Amino acid sequence: MKLLDGKATSDQIKAEIKEKVQAIKASGGRAPHLAAVLVGNNGASLTYVNAKVKACEEVGFESSLIRLPEDITEADLLAKIEELNQSTDLDGYIVQLPLPKHIHEHKVTEAIAPSKDVDGFHPANLGKMVLNLPTFLPATPYGILQLLEKNGIDTAGKHCVVMGRSHIVGSPMSILMGRNTNPGNATVTMVHSRTKNLKELTLQADILIVAIGKPEFVTADMVKEGAVVVDVGIHRIDDATRKSGFRLLGDVKFDEVAPKCSYISPVPGGVGPMTIVALLSNTLLARTLQS
Ligand code: GUN
Repeated sequence: MKLLDGKATSDQIKAEIKEKVQAIKASGGRAPHLAAVLVGNNGASLTYVNAKVKACEEVGFESSLIRLPEDITEADLLAKIEELNQSTDLDGYIVQLPLPKHIHEHKVTEAIAPSKDVDGFHPANLGKMVLNLPTFLPATPYGILQLLEKNGIDTAGKHCVVMGRSHIVGSPMSILMGRNTNPGNATVTMVHSRTKNLKELTLQADILIVAIGKPEFVTADMVKEGAVVVDVGIHRIDDATRKSGFRLLGDVKFDEVAPKCSYISPVPGGVGPMTIVALLSNTLLARTLQS
């Protein structure tokens, strides 16, 4: 069993991005600038957004964290988005999800200028992704593609089972794995909460990508010997023995699944750092397109 070490792989990609930023600056250009909008005080979201800002600093990007109150009206949030769309010193931005319940997520996603939508969530960008046209790929699936590629995992002709159909991970992931690209060219099965013969299908997976949002849901009896397992889940479980007061678990029961795998991504240190580096890649692309 080998670890799909997202920390090491993302460090390697960050070093490549940093060099490109230095080249832009050396030729008199402005550094890429990413902004993150966080509405409210969700602890996990704040951690993720802070990690994104820190990663920007590491590669020499400009970054801005825009914090807005939990009770902001949808209209005021949309006005802020319009302001960011018009900003000329900003290459891309994200609005961290989930949003408070009184705000329609799709209205926000659709208000973001596609040219600055480095999360790749705008329908225009998702449409381009489906059509295999150049665009910003959604950060988590893009990070997983890079994790597979940089670790030399061949996906062509393999049976890839994607567990979960969220707009952020499962749906785009299943499309990307089936596209005529490398990584890609897999035979894809998507399974979800209504799937009847779940275990029968997961046992057929050469590559199992798990994004169902249930801690330790995937157990050893659901995984084929030699499979590649990518765990997208991240759950905070109360743990009084830890200084933070919690520990992190994935969607996969790592200890019992790992011995069966050829490769498996850990939680933390697997998909998480790759998601951040994918966002950086998209921001660099936005900077390149806007110059
Ligand atoms: N919440 C969980 N994952 C993501 C992501 O990739 N982007 C944004 N904006 N919010 C998220």
